[in-house]
Amino acid sequence: MEKVLMTGAAGGIGGRLRTLLKGVYRELRLSDVTTLAGLAKDEQFVAADLADLAQVERAVAGVEGIIHLGGVSIEKPWSMIHPANIVGCYNLFEAARRHGVRRVVFASSNHVMGFYRRRRRVGTDALVRPDSRYGVSKAFGEALGAFYADKYGLGVLCIRIGNFTDKPVDMRRMSIWISPDDLVQLIRIGLEHPDLRYEVVYGASDNARSWWDNAAAFRLGYRPKGRAEDHLADAQAGQAKLAPNPIADMFEGGPFCSDEFVGDPETRGA
Ligand SMILES: NC(=O)c1ccc[n+]([C@@H]2O[C@H](COP(=O)([O-])OP(=O)(O)OC[C@H]3O[C@@H](n4cnc5c(N)ncnc54)[C@H](O)[C@@H]3O)[C@@H](O)[C@H]2O)c1
Repeated sequence: MEKVLMTGAAGGIGGRLRTLLKGVYRELRLSDVTTLAGLAKDEQFVAADLADLAQVERAVAGVEGIIHLGGVSIEKPWSMIHPANIVGCYNLFEAARRHGVRRVVFASSNHVMGFYRRRRRVGTDALVRPDSRYGVSKAFGEALGAFYADKYGLGVLCIRIGNFTDKPVDMRRMSIWISPDDLVQLIRIGLEHPDLRYEVVYGASDNARSWWDNAAAFRLGYRPKGRAEDHLADAQAGQAKLAPNPIADMFEGGPFCSDEFVGDPETRGA
C-alpha cells in the first residue's frame, strides 16, 4: 500500500491523521470540500465535493487505498446528510470500484447502534439501531461497503468510531473513547491486513467500561493501548458539569437519542 487518499482531510480527525500518518505511506493524498490551509511540501490536496461523482473520481484516480472520513459528522437536517453521507458515500465506493482501488476504510460511527441500552453488550453482528439521521447514513455506508466487497471484491473495513479525543471528557466517553494512536492502528489494519474482505469493528480503546464486544477487531490483530480508566478523574469532573438527561443516559447514543425524542423510552430501543 503506497498511495492512499484521505477524504475529510480538513476535519478534526483528518487534521490529526495528517501528522500521525506522515511517512507511513509514500503518498498520502488529501481531499475535502474545504480547501486545506498550510499544506506541507510533501502534501498533495485535491478539492472534491463528495456529492459530485466526477470530482470524487478525480480525487480517487491512482490510489490503492482510501480512508473515508469526509461527510457530515453529527446530526443535521436530511438536506445536509443526504448529499454528503448518502450520495457522497455512494460516489466514494463507486469511484473506488471504477478506479480499481483495493481497500476502503470507512469512518462509521457508534451512532449506528445508539439505541441499544447501556446495560447490554453488543457485538458487530447485532441489528443496527441508529439514533439519528446521521446514524442511519452511517448504517447505509456500512451496507454499501458490504455490497462493494461482496460484489466487486473491494476490501472494506468499517470502523464504528466511538469518540476520538486525547482523553474521555465525560462518563459516556469513558465507554466509547478511542485515542488517536489506536485509531491509526485500526486504519492501518484496514489498509494493510493481508486477508481483509469485509469487516465491521468498533473504534474504541481499551475501555474497562466498554459496551461493545470488539472481537472482530482483536481477531484482525488490534491491540489498543489507550486506557480510558487512566483518565477517570477528568471524565468524572466533566460529567459533573452536565445536566442529568434520563433518556440520553439510558441509551448508548446519549444526546443523539434524546434529541427530538417523543414518547416513552421504556418501550424503545433494544
Ligand atoms: N470525531 C469523532 O469522534 C467521530 C466519531 C464517530 C464517527 N466519526 C466520523 O469520522 C469522520 C471524521 O470525523 P471528524 O470529527 O473529523 O469530522 P469533521 O466534521 O471535523 O470533518 C469532516 C470533514 O468532511 C468534510 N465534508 C463534509 N461534507 C463534505 C462533502 N460534501 N464533500 C467533501 N467533504 C465534505 C468537511 O469539510 C470536514 O472537513 C466523519 O465521517 C465522522 O462521521 C467521527
